Amino acid sequence: MKKLFLILTGIAVMGAASCGAASENKAGASAASLLSDRAAAGESSSGYTYTLQDLLNLQDFLLTKPTEEDLTGKPYDMNGDERWDVFDLCLMKREVLEEKETPAESDTLVVYFSRTGNTGKIAQHLIELTGADSYAIEAAVPYSDEDIKYQDENCRANREQNDKSVRPEIADPVASIESYDTIFLGYPIWWGQEPRIIDTFLESYDFSDKTVIPFCTSGSSGIGTSEKNIAELVPIGKQPAGRRFPAGATKEDVKAWYDTLPLGEGNEDMKMKISVGGTELTASLSDTAAAKELAEKLKEGPVTVTLNEYGGFEKVGKLPWTLTRSDESTVTGAGDIMLYQGDQMTIFYNSNSWSYTKLGHIDNKTQEELAELFGEGDITVTLSY
Ligand SMILES: Cc1cc2nc3c(=O)[nH]c(=O)nc-3n(C[C@H](O)[C@H](O)[C@H](O)COP(=O)(O)O)c2cc1C
Repeated sequence: MKKLFLILTGIAVMGAASCGAASENKAGASAASLLSDRAAAGESSSGYTYTLQDLLNLQDFLLTKPTEEDLTGKPYDMNGDERWDVFDLCLMKREVLEEKETPAESDTLVVYFSRTGNTGKIAQHLIELTGADSYAIEAAVPYSDEDIKYQDENCRANREQNDKSVRPEIADPVASIESYDTIFLGYPIWWGQEPRIIDTFLESYDFSDKTVIPFCTSGSSGIGTSEKNIAELVPIGKQPAGRRFPAGATKEDVKAWYDTLPLGEGNEDMKMKISVGGTELTASLSDTAAAKELAEKLKEGPVTVTLNEYGGFEKVGKLPWTLTRSDESTVTGAGDIMLYQGDQMTIFYNSNSWSYTKLGHIDNKTQEELAELFGEGDITVTLSY
């Protein structure tokens, strides 16, 4: 290494104080032990992002009485004058502080509306896990306690939820979402659905090349209906299966879900084909273990399943395998494909509320089309991948 370092003990002590970096003298500690691993490994300063720890290491080191040997071959020469001195300390301080003040740009945005804080806590976990930017939706006319007193039939929230066309104004709309690829969208469930202000948000931007991942909190209702509403409201590039959390969900719960999401390279949508009465349907499989197992099984060859009519809202039949259950309370919608009791597949052509494991959703078919296609009695479907 070309650098030649000088012993600067006296100057260093003065200089450390002069650039505001005074600290306890750790005299006696070996200089090498104060160096970070990367610095100790002799990495050059170009291409190396100094950390606060490097700054403290250099400062502490200069406060000791470094020997000529200590100074040889160390990489803290910030200004290239082949001297490791207090000027380097000042330059490093500037670099480290700038780095802290200018956080790396994120391509992920966590957007959430939370009137009583439950969804906000889940959003906070996500923000910490992902390092994403965040935006809290606030209503231009804030929701008072009276406004969300849902026991009162005529409260504002109830009136809004009863009218699909209502679009409450957002107080301070985010200027642009252009720079984000992935948007987590969080909300509480209000009467089984997303609050109307979420619809205001969705209709304010172009999501056609974005990945939008809904999440919600609720007393018990599932995310299914709101997910479907969102998918039908505006064009969205990709909408992986969302997740409902109870109010007290932990950071670990959120991480467990986050880890299953098809984000990044090599996570293309899993598609299953369903042949029924000569019609070919396509279904997007969910991000559950069961759906992944189903895909693996179908890769071995197509399977024919008889589905029995049940309740005027679903067709249900036994699969040849038992798949991993991750049941959650769900309000299903037309097109949803669920695993029931681990070994039965249920395809919905209307809504029901029960505890299921998500398998997928039939693409681009309305409730009426599915009801007509499935007819009134039992049916036989062939599944393939
Ligand atoms: C107007 C209103 C309607 C609600 N409707 C439902 C519902 O249909 N199902 C449910 O499980 N919880 C319902 N809840 C409970 C909320 O979804 C739940 O308390 C949620 O965690 C609140 O989130 P927040 O604290 O982020 O606002 C409702 C709450 C309000 C205020």
